[in-house]
Amino acid sequence: MKNNIIIALDGHSSCGKSTLAKSLAKALNYTYVDTGAMYRAVTLYLIQQDISVTDVEQVKAVLGDISIHFERIEGKNTTFLNGVNVEEEIRKMYVSDLVSPVATIPAVRRKLVQQQQEMGKNKGIVMDGRDIGTVVFPAAELKIFLTASAEERANRRYKELLEKGQEVSYEAILKNLQDRDRIDSTRADSPLKKAKDAIIIDNTLLSRDEQLVYTLKLAQQTIVKSQNDLSS
Ligand code: DC
Repeated sequence: MKNNIIIALDGHSSCGKSTLAKSLAKALNYTYVDTGAMYRAVTLYLIQQDISVTDVEQVKAVLGDISIHFERIEGKNTTFLNGVNVEEEIRKMYVSDLVSPVATIPAVRRKLVQQQQEMGKNKGIVMDGRDIGTVVFPAAELKIFLTASAEERANRRYKELLEKGQEVSYEAILKNLQDRDRIDSTRADSPLKKAKDAIIIDNTLLSRDEQLVYTLKLAQQTIVKSQNDLSS
């Protein structure tokens, strides 16, 4: 019988977590969940409703009106906010600029973490984010902590946004990444930190393929180990 595990993939902003998570999920026939998209969707909702991201009471008051789900469209993981496809909108810089403060609000985190735990209850999932190995699934069978230099991450993101036709400056992207790293790592509730049992991968000098081959091997070893543990 196929044995499913949970793969928790955490790390800094724009270090290729979602690319790796998607490839791993595809290779293992697992479900991929992009938890950053959920924080982005909440942020987009607040912007649309003209609610300040620092007005915690107002944010709390509207949380019940926000419903987020994912669908696969043309083979792509697609984020929906209250039934509307927002996949493209949530990646824009005006959302990136406000998402980290939103992710510091404990009520927002409680709501999203609960939904994420529900999504992973049958395992067979690759989930990427900042607190997956520490808070969402502290017992995940495989935890990976991905990082790369800030300059390399900004460079990759710059190229990606240019290809999408968005007008951006490298300096603005680098600043956004550094600001997000700082806010994500220093917030009081579930800061970004490596779980004690996570495997660190610095992919500054790794190609996508090299990174996939390495992590797929880790995943396959972990699946076999967890099968053996179950049958012993
Ligand atoms: O992965 P991303 O860049 O799309 O995430 C957007 C923001 O959401 C990021 O700045 C931190 C926050 N986030 C979080 O706090 N916890 C998660 N599990 C995922 C994202």
